[in-house]
Amino acid sequence: MTVKAAQKSPELIDFLLARRSVSLKLMGDQRPTDDQINTILSAAIRSPDHGKMAPWYFITIKDDARKTIGDVLKRAYTADQDPHAEPAKLELESERFLRAPMAIIVVSRIREGKNPVWEQILSAGAVCTHLSLAAHALGFGVNWLTEWYSYSPTFRAALGLDARDNIAGVLYIGNVVEMPEERERPTLSHLTTDWTGTGTRPSKGDAHYGMAGKGLPSLGMVLPDGLADDA
Ligand SMILES: Cc1cc2nc3c(=O)[nH]c(=O)nc-3n(C[C@H](O)[C@H](O)[C@H](O)COP(=O)(O)O)c2cc1C
Repeated sequence: MTVKAAQKSPELIDFLLARRSVSLKLMGDQRPTDDQINTILSAAIRSPDHGKMAPWYFITIKDDARKTIGDVLKRAYTADQDPHAEPAKLELESERFLRAPMAIIVVSRIREGKNPVWEQILSAGAVCTHLSLAAHALGFGVNWLTEWYSYSPTFRAALGLDARDNIAGVLYIGNVVEMPEERERPTLSHLTTDWTGTGTRPSKGDAHYGMAGKGLPSLGMVLPDGLADDA
C-alpha cells in the first residue's frame, strides 16, 4: 500500500463538515460484513500513536453475542447500579447491545514505556474517531457511547479488562434508515485564538458549553498502581 500523507479530497471535507452521529433508533438491522469490519479496524489502527505503543485493543459484539452479553449486563446492573432492580428493568438493560446490528468496544490500554498515560489515552480517542469515520465512509451510521456499563467493575471484569484498561468507547454501527437532525455546534471563534505575543489571552470557550457552577466531573477512569508523577 502506498502511504498517503496529502491527497485532495473535497468529498472528505464535505463529509467532515456535516458529520453527525446516528442514534441507535435510526439504525436498521444490517451490520458491516466481516471484510468491512476488517477495513474499519485497519483504518482505526492507523491513528496517531506516539512511540508505536498501540495502546488500545478491540472487542467486537455482533450476531448472537449481542444477546449473550445480556446476562453480563443483568449481573453488572444488579451488582453496580441497582441491587433491587425489577426484572423488567433488568430485561431492558440486558438488551443494550441488541439496539444496533453490532458494536466495537475500543479499550484504551496503558502500556509500559516512556510515553505518558495522557498521550496513550488520547491515541485511543483518535482510534475511536478513525474507526467511526471509516464506518461512515462505508455507508454505515455510528454512535460512540459509553453508558453506565463501561464504568461497571462487573462488566469490565467479565470482558477481561484489568487496571490498565478503560473503555474509550462502545462504537455502535449499523445501516442508516433515517437521517439524524442537525444539532447545535459551538462557535468556532469562541474556541480559537490567533496568538500574537505574550500579551495574548486565549479564548477558552463559551460557558454555555459544560455545566458552569456544577463543579468538576469525576475522573471516570481506572489507573494502574505505580504511575510516575510526571512525564
Ligand atoms: C467518549 C464519549 C462517550 C460518549 N458517551 C455517550 C453516551 O454514553 N451517551 C450519549 O448519549 N452520548 C454519548 N456520547 C456522545 C455521542 O457520541 C455524540 O457525539 C453526541 O450524541 C453528539 O452527536 P454528534 O457526534 O453528531 O455531534 C459520547 C461521546 C464520546 C466522545
